[in-house]
Amino acid sequence: MNENILKIDTVDLQDDKLVIIDQTKLPNETVILKLTDQRDIWHAIKTLQIRGAPAIGVAAAIGIYLAAKEIDTDDFNVFKTEFAKAKKYLASSRPTAVNLFWALDRMESVICEKPIAVIKELLRLEAIKIREEDIAASYKIGEYGLSLLHDGDGILTHCNAGQLATVRYGTALAPIHVGRERGMNFKVYTDETRPLLQGIRLSAYELVADGVDTTVICDNMASQVMKNGWIQAVITGADRIASNGDACNKIGTSGVAILAKYYKIPFYIAAPTSTIDMKVSRGEDITIEQRDPDEITKLWYEKCMAPEGAKVYNPAFDFVDNELITAIITEKGIIYPPFEKNLKEIMGE
Ligand code: MRU
Repeated sequence: MNENILKIDTVDLQDDKLVIIDQTKLPNETVILKLTDQRDIWHAIKTLQIRGAPAIGVAAAIGIYLAAKEIDTDDFNVFKTEFAKAKKYLASSRPTAVNLFWALDRMESVICEKPIAVIKELLRLEAIKIREEDIAASYKIGEYGLSLLHDGDGILTHCNAGQLATVRYGTALAPIHVGRERGMNFKVYTDETRPLLQGIRLSAYELVADGVDTTVICDNMASQVMKNGWIQAVITGADRIASNGDACNKIGTSGVAILAKYYKIPFYIAAPTSTIDMKVSRGEDITIEQRDPDEITKLWYEKCMAPEGAKVYNPAFDFVDNELITAIITEKGIIYPPFEKNLKEIMGE
């Protein structure tokens, strides 16, 4: 186990390279990737070498800067056309986390009719700003989230919305990490999160590295730990939050929220405001990524586990109905229902 995983930023820009931890190799190997080519960056996002909505956003911001840097022209219109091509390409890597599109749009918005060298420098500075803002937002989410918890609480989480899904601290796990800095202790239960195992491979890994009392459970054990009275709060992240508060997150999150309601346990979504998509009015309108069937039938097994002829359904995400959500924890504060009205307010609309 690498005790120092929390000391490594998940996404960085160093010497004009995108520096990431290859999350497909965790927890057994810590492999640092240094990427410059937009095809490698696209591949890293697609294959989840870098994953988690905020981390994808920061990686895309750095990725589009690196792609823009390679555009060899002095002509503003040619530059703009080439930039748009690279933007479209990077945007095609994954469809659900809105942070990807948010970051690419924000990068595009700094382009103005100036010498190309100046535009490239503006893009570099914007990518750095997006990265720094992510760290600050995650820490604030940690502080707000902590105000909802008590020392010693049992907390259930799903997927990985921890430091490995942002630059530092995380969203759902930020209150735990910030709490640890302040000498607090929680008992965290993490669903293993089939099929890509972000819970057991990544959340458990970073929690143990932080000295947190960590218990791994299979996804189908969530109900039992709630019934046992071991869970005082559920916190998960989100990939996209619609304007009515419906929150799209890793497949299985919806089921966990339904269970939490049954057992009268507060269910919190923790996400930066860059994950809120006011252009989408409800969860049903969010594009859900469908992934390779082999992730279910073959990836973790020596032999294929499904009989020939069986069909496979492998959606990467589902959404939690807003009525199941107790509150949404953002860097701007804790948002309670009615979400439609209160999200508008916090988003300044
Ligand atoms: O497919 P992944 O691993 O990118 O999915 C990640 C999640 O669903 C996270 O919970 C979400 O992105 C929030 S990360 C702070």
